[in-house]
Amino acid sequence: MKKILFALTKFEPKEYKKRTIIIWNEVAPRYHKRWASTNAGPFQSTQKLVTLAGIKKGDQVLDIACGTGVVTKKISSIVGNSGKIVSFDISNKALSIAKKFNSAKKNIEFIQADAETVFLKNQFDVITCQYALFFFPNSKKALCNAKRVLKKGGILAVSVHGHNTPFFSCIIDAVMKFIPDYVPPGAPNLDRFGSQKALKVEVKNSGFLNIKAKTFVFKYSPGKFSEYWNNYLKYVAKPLKEKLDKLSAKKRDELRELVKQNVSRYTKKNQKIVFPWEVIVLTAKK
Ligand SMILES: C[S@@+](CC[C@H](N)C(=O)[O-])C[C@H]1O[C@@H](n2cnc3c(N)ncnc32)[C@H](O)[C@@H]1O
Repeated sequence: MKKILFALTKFEPKEYKKRTIIIWNEVAPRYHKRWASTNAGPFQSTQKLVTLAGIKKGDQVLDIACGTGVVTKKISSIVGNSGKIVSFDISNKALSIAKKFNSAKKNIEFIQADAETVFLKNQFDVITCQYALFFFPNSKKALCNAKRVLKKGGILAVSVHGHNTPFFSCIIDAVMKFIPDYVPPGAPNLDRFGSQKALKVEVKNSGFLNIKAKTFVFKYSPGKFSEYWNNYLKYVAKPLKEKLDKLSAKKRDELRELVKQNVSRYTKKNQKIVFPWEVIVLTAKK
């Protein structure tokens, strides 16, 4: 299964990042409303992540690729006023939502930055990164950068989607059959940390110790097939929509039918789809 967000013709990290900003600036409001702030489906992981990270009152915490601030908010409720949080993201729109969502608290600093190149002077007790590591083309660089600002004995906590996420694969597996050049050579495979082993290897190669991982399988219902299909196209994948628009009406119908077949095993008698959603939460120490 391949979850690819970007449909570029040739992979260029700089262009990829520019597009990351454009896309996240566009999807951030809907992402926040329909996903991140709901605590539903994969976002049941937010609580798991902060619990496994062992965050305590008064801690200094860094939230990498904080998006619209849902992890930051949970962290904030634990560290209290004596703690301090630095949260950064590459998307300015996501950050503006994150600031509002966190009611402009004085002990939270929001910064627009790239995880691979951000330069921070603070030292943190805990670093979190939810559903973002796979977006970084040079994820090892981002992890090494994080390690530099983690106190000795401090905790890194990362969550990623596991391989078993049919919400994505039912559509993307079908798309790959109709648009084989959808993935440009060298583009980050968003599925690359979908097993505990792959995630652990990346974190170990970045110099972390005491690496542990847990797999959770949450449930998520996107409604009936038409809701799933329409909503997916509407707010998850604009680049995918652009490619689909180039297909003939006949091919589009065939593609829709194939997705419907892929989804059938998750469709209940009342026509509602219920997907399993595998999430891996890893913790490690410096
Ligand atoms: C799926 S969202 C996760 C946001 C947040 N952690 C959450 O759990 O809701 C992925 C985020 O990664 C950010 N992102 C992608 N590439 C990045 C990079 N190189 N540096 C910093 N943030 C990045 C995007 O802007 C987006 O907000």
